[in-house]
Amino acid sequence: MKRHRVLVLLHPELMPPDSLKGRTNEEINVWKTEYDVISTLRASGHDVLPLGVADELKPIRDEIDRWKPDIVFNLLEEIHGEAIYDHAVASYLELLRIPYTGCNPRGLILARGKDLSKKLVHYHRIPVPAFAVFPMQRKVRRPPRLKLPLIVKSLSEDASLGISQASIVETDEKLEERVTFIHERVKTAAIAEQYIEGREIYVGVFGNERRRVLPIWELEFGSSAMGARTIATENVKHNLEYQQRHGVDQGPAKDLSPPLRARINSIVKRVCRTLELDGYARIDFRLTAEGVPYFIEANPNPEIAKIEEFAQAAAHDGIAYPDLLNRIIALGIARARATGIER
Ligand SMILES: Nc1ncnc2c1ncn2[C@@H]1O[C@H](COP(=O)(O)OP(=O)(O)O)[C@@H](O)[C@H]1O
Ligand SMILES: [Mg+2]
Repeated sequence: MKRHRVLVLLHPELMPPDSLKGRTNEEINVWKTEYDVISTLRASGHDVLPLGVADELKPIRDEIDRWKPDIVFNLLEEIHGEAIYDHAVASYLELLRIPYTGCNPRGLILARGKDLSKKLVHYHRIPVPAFAVFPMQRKVRRPPRLKLPLIVKSLSEDASLGISQASIVETDEKLEERVTFIHERVKTAAIAEQYIEGREIYVGVFGNERRRVLPIWELEFGSSAMGARTIATENVKHNLEYQQRHGVDQGPAKDLSPPLRARINSIVKRVCRTLELDGYARIDFRLTAEGVPYFIEANPNPEIAKIEEFAQAAAHDGIAYPDLLNRIIALGIARARATGIER
């Protein structure tokens, strides 16, 4: 393996310490991705420089000129606190003609809108939930074709921001209430989707032109599923105490027929092609009891902490964590080469 100089971009508040000593699990949970990536790359012999970026891009250019990295490892998920600006960082790196990891700016834009991505994949006959968008400052009226229950989400935010059990609405009154909540609290437009009862399925994939699909992964809701319509709320996704209390767990999806597995794999590749995703991504589905995988969203640059779904699925497929990070770097370099950028 070639050793590289790797400039790691991350949010300054997520700058990890050098060691985990004396840190609680709750503390570690916040910056675990940053810690895992930096410490693992260092242990693999790379020269690593972490750089905190919140809203000013110029320091990236300055460090590229001064430190001369071979590649930028892009862990930024927002700029100016806005997830919708993530593509601007990738665009900036393209203009600087430096190889970088993860998805290209076009893919980031196409995947970002929970409405746009569904419209695009629907054209390729991939099942998607019916939906309607409610822009800010507009009266909330449910189109008659859209049947209750619905789930109301931010159109553009992720990480289950604004998602709780109250996101599932069974009446027009509750729909209006929840859309207003998204407008006022999350401060974005809202999308209301047909609520799909089913299993929560995540599929990791990596590659540029040719893609490798990782084993189909499932989030199991444990006792939090009792009597409730199960969704991945903020608590299910990020609250360690809640996860332990309810036995929320993840692992390879069991009892899927070989034709269904093949169908999901082919849909994942089609989604990536349609949304122009490269690098690494995770495609999320709800799988109904009838075996229909509904596309919920595409996550370019998904969380790659060692214990998160993507890295776990890779490990299950025989790709150890250091190897996974090296492959992600290699993909960034290969993409740059393909566009004529040499460092
Ligand atoms: N149409 C839907 N039907 C059923 N559950 C849904 C639907 N859309 C979202 N969910 C649930 O809400 C979670 C978060 O929704 P998602 O669109 O992935 O938002 P985020 O970008 O915040 O992760 C999903 O993981 C799933 O559990
Ligand atoms: Mg999601």
